[in-house]
Amino acid sequence: MGSYDHTPVTVADKRAVVVGGTSGIGQAIAEGFAAEGADVVATSRRESAVEETADIIEEYGVDTARVTCDVTEMATLEAVRETAVEELGGVDVVVASQGAISRETVRDISDEDWDFVTDVALDGVRRVTQAMVPAMDDGGAIVNISSLAARLAMADLPAYAAAKGGVEAFTRASAKELAPEIRVNAIAPGFVITPQNAETYAEGTEKRAKIDERAPLGRVADREEMVGAAVYLASDAASYVTGEVLTVDGGFADSAL
Ligand SMILES: NC(=O)c1ccc[n+]([C@@H]2O[C@H](COP(=O)([O-])OP(=O)(O)OC[C@H]3O[C@@H](n4cnc5c(N)ncnc54)[C@H](O)[C@@H]3O)[C@@H](O)[C@H]2O)c1
Repeated sequence: MGSYDHTPVTVADKRAVVVGGTSGIGQAIAEGFAAEGADVVATSRRESAVEETADIIEEYGVDTARVTCDVTEMATLEAVRETAVEELGGVDVVVASQGAISRETVRDISDEDWDFVTDVALDGVRRVTQAMVPAMDDGGAIVNISSLAARLAMADLPAYAAAKGGVEAFTRASAKELAPEIRVNAIAPGFVITPQNAETYAEGTEKRAKIDERAPLGRVADREEMVGAAVYLASDAASYVTGEVLTVDGGFADSAL
């Protein structure tokens, strides 16, 4: 009989806050965490979306709380932290999955569009970190959602690319500062079907055909395929992983023509 005592890849019994957790990838992660036995607060701007997602989370018999936030307003994230502390007793895991996009080009993008994207996607990640760390008294893990756009040039996404590049740099910087108590990592998804892009990547479009052709796995991803990476990075099995970006893209980024 072997005596190997491994640390399982699970978030069971952890207390998680998922920002942008009521749609798309964030919602899949929130539900996946709940299915594993974590208590989960899934938050975003819309009250109805928060309520719907909390109902889904409760079906797994774990604790949740219903609270909205806007990542452009620090006070709302502090309110999420206080709610999580009151309702769950603290925070062990934070996921920042809020998203904002603009398809304005380098030549055309206005200050307004640039600021809108970076305020949500980059400054928003910084605010989520700053707001949640004071509740992570027992240490924990932060998982920021980046994008392939941080490392691959994609047309018409300059602000998004800059924001996501910033998220990866901020992930490394905060991993160094918050160690050893808190680990900070990022996931860089490839092309994932979510409400944000269901039309852009719809079957039959030219974009979809190009993705299917280049990606070694030959297809776009379902949002549920991002959950395993989040569970791993949030779990104690990743106890020696910090400042890392885990690409989940079907092999797309590292594949030539
Ligand atoms: N879908 C993809 O193909 C893909 C690929 C790479 C990276 N990503 C990233 O994954 C993350 C999730 O994207 P998604 O496709 O699931 O999008 P989505 O639109 O389905 O979900 C985004 C969530 O963020 C919330 N949100 C937006 N602005 C907010 C704000 N100011 N304050 C609080 N919440 C706010 C929305 O309400 C929503 O719940 C984003 O960071 C996105 O950039 C997505």
